[in-house]
Amino acid sequence: MKDLKLDSYGKYNGNELEYVSRVLDSEDIENKKNPWVKRFEKAFAEKFNIKYAIAHNSGTSTLHTCLAAAGVGAGDEVISPAQTVIMNSFAILYQNAIPVYADIDQDTFNIDPKDIERKITKRTKAIIAVHMHGLPADMDPIMEIARKNNLFVIEDSAQCVLGKYKGRIAGSIGHMASFSFETKKHLSAGEGGMVITDDEDIAVKIRKIGGLGYKTLQAGESLRQLLPAEFQDPGYKRHDSLGWNYRMNEITAAVGLAQLERINFLVSRRQQVAGFFLEALDGCNWIIPQKVPESYENSYWTFTVRYEGEKAYGVKWKEFYNLYKKNDGDGFYGGLSVVYQEPVMQNKVFLNEYLPKNNIYKNAFNYGKGFCPVAEEIQSKMMQFKTNYRNLEVAKIKAQALKKTIKEIEG
Ligand SMILES: Cc1ncc(COP(=O)(O)O)c(C=O)c1O
Repeated sequence: MKDLKLDSYGKYNGNELEYVSRVLDSEDIENKKNPWVKRFEKAFAEKFNIKYAIAHNSGTSTLHTCLAAAGVGAGDEVISPAQTVIMNSFAILYQNAIPVYADIDQDTFNIDPKDIERKITKRTKAIIAVHMHGLPADMDPIMEIARKNNLFVIEDSAQCVLGKYKGRIAGSIGHMASFSFETKKHLSAGEGGMVITDDEDIAVKIRKIGGLGYKTLQAGESLRQLLPAEFQDPGYKRHDSLGWNYRMNEITAAVGLAQLERINFLVSRRQQVAGFFLEALDGCNWIIPQKVPESYENSYWTFTVRYEGEKAYGVKWKEFYNLYKKNDGDGFYGGLSVVYQEPVMQNKVFLNEYLPKNNIYKNAFNYGKGFCPVAEEIQSKMMQFKTNYRNLEVAKIKAQALKKTIKEIEG
């Protein structure tokens, strides 16, 4: 095994290559003893100090299996934040359920528990608490609302790895949590995802829903080896429930495991880069960074701010963007829409194409203007600066570009 080179930031320069070649080497005895998915799951569960980790092929399929395991079905409502990726809503729709949006907090940019409470109805079945940009959502009130209303809480931790909430690690607070290993994430393996949970019953369901409903699947184990005499018998029956094929493959797991070995470093590098941007903002009161409340730790998937330069100096968002780029700044990560303002959620073509023709849906999906006023107000002001620079000197140049742009505007 390679010595981990923690001072160089090649994203994949740990044991990734070695592990992948061991997967591909069919002579390697370890391939037979120790499937890589199983190893990755075990190491992930240990890292999060949780009983079960179930590997998937994406952070969208994880959300889908979590919702299905929570029993979310046709006509049920699931609450998620108004400003995040579309995948949360799609996973809800895959279950023929109805996405309901709670507004976000204008300082933390995370889901607002008070608005969750307002949006609860008799049909609400679950809450997806997304930890946006690297910062955990306010989990205590969310768990209390869920307890009072008998709801499941799914933490979507795709953007938050090793973030902390009041001493607890994000992903270990809700009934289950979902991670993504898509290429830009803290831990990347091309594509991939993980669900973690302490609940055995949920873990079995998730394993089977994402694993084609094989009857032998268990909470802590992917396909268990049966004796050949058993499964080669033509009388043997394999599947006792409906499932999807959301399984992770061995090569992805090998890369994921090597990334996990370096995850503290990968996260702290992003935090360091966020520190450069924070320094660049020193004294500037019109670019407002995501608030990190006391006793939270932001894992800074991105360094996200609210831009108030138009109000303060008459400089429009796009003008600022162009000036920052001219000063050697990078582009930002793609801005996130208010989810229900995406054309797919407004044209509702899926109602005809996909959802059962049933009057449960007659008055659903009406997300008019003002449904989540804070998200609608601040969405167009957001900027997400990249934090995954491989070279810290480049990150410093980008932070200096930000400082220079601010100085030029302030005059
Ligand atoms: C908050 C959030 N949830 C879910 C996902 C979906 O993950 P994936 O792209 O792995 O399907 C992403 C990633 O893009 C994300 O940022």
